[in-house]
Amino acid sequence: MTIQAFSYLAPPIVFGVHSAEKIGEHIARLGASHVLLISDRGLEKAGLVDQLTSWIQKSGFSVTRYTDIEPEPSINNVRACVSFARSAGCDLVVGMGGGSAMDCAKVVAALLGNDGDIMDYLGMNKVPRKGVPTILLPTTAGTGSEIGRGALFHVPERNAKEAVFSAYMLTDLALIDPALGLSAPSSVTAASGLDALCHAIESYTGRAANPLSMPFAELGIQWIYRHLASAVENGSDLTAREGMSLGALYASIALANANTHAVHALAYPLQGYNRIVHGKANGVLLPYILKAISAAAPQRFVQIAGWLGLDTASFSAADAGVAVADAITRLSAQIGIPTKMSALGVARDQLELFTREASQINRLLDNSPLVLASDQIYQIYLEAL
Ligand SMILES: [Fe+2]
Repeated sequence: MTIQAFSYLAPPIVFGVHSAEKIGEHIARLGASHVLLISDRGLEKAGLVDQLTSWIQKSGFSVTRYTDIEPEPSINNVRACVSFARSAGCDLVVGMGGGSAMDCAKVVAALLGNDGDIMDYLGMNKVPRKGVPTILLPTTAGTGSEIGRGALFHVPERNAKEAVFSAYMLTDLALIDPALGLSAPSSVTAASGLDALCHAIESYTGRAANPLSMPFAELGIQWIYRHLASAVENGSDLTAREGMSLGALYASIALANANTHAVHALAYPLQGYNRIVHGKANGVLLPYILKAISAAAPQRFVQIAGWLGLDTASFSAADAGVAVADAITRLSAQIGIPTKMSALGVARDQLELFTREASQINRLLDNSPLVLASDQIYQIYLEAL
């Protein structure tokens, strides 16, 4: 047998401009009557929470809303939401927002069907049974939360981001309406778009890449690279928003089936200690890590360079990683993402601590095409400083 064995996981997906307006049809199909809508204050101010509420109510369902979700939420934030949800008596959870709101929605839905505290379920497959159904609506093209079975939270006691992973948290519907992203601020579009690009590139270059994840990663890289700058520069450009939503969807499917590796691992300490948002932390590190690991998978970087429109005849395979990294650095500068960690407040005396912490994230580092030793990780941080 020459074809690598693989498994594949993705939830039901509905994609299209204005598809969110028909959310009531999906709630009816799932047999629910009382919806808990989880979102955040920013989307409430932008009017999206009212808009979605009215679409749900028009279909005859009642809605209870919870919008106190913080960016990069802590487990305490989730606990408050779970406590609210348990007293509200809802039979379906709708999560609308970026990764924070959708991750909370997945865990809250799981805890509506299971007793105990979120701390009981941190880790792999510790959720014993499915909770209530969920519908997830991303308003940023990037996190991939609507496709995956994981949810990530800040644990203050350990100053770390930790995940609940369970097949029971795969959503009952990823409802992807690119029009919901029209009001996203350019900084959010830039950071979440670079996160999506990391998902596509890491899943394509990682050891877990497989025959079904790789075509999705390829399409993700192409669509995101083509549309990200336009979506940042003109947020009301619906073609760019659609392109980013589709690119991020491709990347999210690749992510859910082949995972990320070194970029996400090294970005964790930046998020935990300096509270740098996920997409920015990944984006600032991406070019430096690609340069460091590309020698372990040169042909994959030649292919990526071609998808970015680079002239692959003008450099050797050994230099493809540098060419890809330089193209991404130019894109980051164009969309306002810092290309050095010091611009995000990281200090040199933090790098040893960051190196110690990142070195322990084996579930991601083991997926890197080049397994990075501690001194290599320190060197990457130093170059990115
Ligand atoms: Fe990510």
